[in-house]
Amino acid sequence: MSITLLAIESSCDDTSAAIIKDGEVLSNIMATQDIHKAYGGVVPEVASRAHQANIIPVVDAAFAKAKIPKEEIDAVAFTRGPGLMGSLIVGVSFAKAFAMSRNIPIIEVNHMRAHVMAHFAEAPRPQFPFLCLTVSGGHTQILKVHSPFQMEVIGATIDDAAGEAFDKTGKLLGLDYPAGPKIDQLAQRGKAIYSFTEPRVKDLDFSFSGLKTSILYFLKRQLKENPNFITDNLADICASVQERIVSILMNKLIKAYQITGYRQVAVAGGVSANSSLRKALREAGEHYGWETFVPQLEYCTDNAAMIGILAYYKYQDKQFAEQDITPDPRLKVTLNENT
Ligand code: KG4
Ligand code: ZN
Repeated sequence: MSITLLAIESSCDDTSAAIIKDGEVLSNIMATQDIHKAYGGVVPEVASRAHQANIIPVVDAAFAKAKIPKEEIDAVAFTRGPGLMGSLIVGVSFAKAFAMSRNIPIIEVNHMRAHVMAHFAEAPRPQFPFLCLTVSGGHTQILKVHSPFQMEVIGATIDDAAGEAFDKTGKLLGLDYPAGPKIDQLAQRGKAIYSFTEPRVKDLDFSFSGLKTSILYFLKRQLKENPNFITDNLADICASVQERIVSILMNKLIKAYQITGYRQVAVAGGVSANSSLRKALREAGEHYGWETFVPQLEYCTDNAAMIGILAYYKYQDKQFAEQDITPDPRLKVTLNENT
C-alpha cells in the first residue's frame, strides 16, 4: 500500500510544506522570513503573522512541485513543538483543518526528533544505533538514536544554542542576522589568532553564554586601544570565534563516541552548514574510524520534509493524534516517542 503525506513545519521563522510518498521526498518548499533581519533576531509576533500569510501559498507550491492531487493525501503531519507558540499554532491549525475537511488522520511530530530523522530523507542513511549532534539557532543536543521512535538526549546546552553563539557574536561585530553564514565566510580569510577560553561544563552538556561574554569584554578592551579594531581584524576575529565554537562541539561529540562506542556519527541543524565544523567532523571521522553523515543543507535547516519522514514511520506504526491536540512550545525528547 502506498502512503502519501503532507507535512507542515512552522516552529520558528520558516514556513515549510512537503509531500512525502513512501518515504521519498517529492517536494520540500520553504518560505524564509527575511523581515526579522531588520530586528536582529526572530520577533515571535511578526513570525506568527508571516506564517499566516505564507502557509497557503507554500502548501500550494508543495502540491504543484510534487504533481500530486490533494485527494491522494493519506494523512497530514505537523510540528507540535518545541518552538514559538504563535508560530506553531498556525501549522497545527492548518493541519487539523486540512485533515478534517478530507476526513484523514493527523500525525504530531516532535521537531527535535525530526531533525534527527532528516538523515533518512536521502541516501546514505545511518544505521541504528547512531550518534546525532543537532546544532541550530534554537538547539544544541547530542542524541543516541536507537530507532525512529527511540532517542535519548545524552547532552544539551545549558544556556544558548551554538547557532545563537554565532548570531550573538555577529551582532557584537555589527553583522546582519543570522550571522553564522557570514562568520563562516569571513573566517576563511582569517587566522584563529585570538584565544577564547573553553567553558567547563559537566558530562556531555554545552554552554555558550560565557563565550559570548568573553568576546564582548575582549572587544571592549581592544576597541579602547584601537577604535577600528573590529574592521581591521574582522576575519581573524571570526576565525577565532568559529574555531572555539567548533572545538566546543567536537570535543563533546568525541566524548560521546568514547562513552557509547558508536561509530556512526551524524550532524544535523543549520549550523552543520559550517565549513569548519564539516572539516572537523571529517578529520575526527578519519582519526576515530567513524562513518559520518551530514544531510544536504535543505534538510539541515528547518524544513517540512524532515517532519514528513518521521511521520512516514509513525503512519506505519499507526501513531495518529486526536483532533483536540494543541501545540507544545516546550515539547521534550523523551526516550520513547509513543509514551
Ligand atoms: O536550523 P536553522 O535553519 O534554524 C533553527 O534555528 O532551527 O538554523 C539557523 C542557525 C542560525 O543560527 C545560523 O546563524 C546558523 O544556523 N548557521 C550557521 C551557518 N549557516 C547557518 N552557523 C555557522 N556557519 C554557517 N555556515
Ligand atoms: Zn530546528
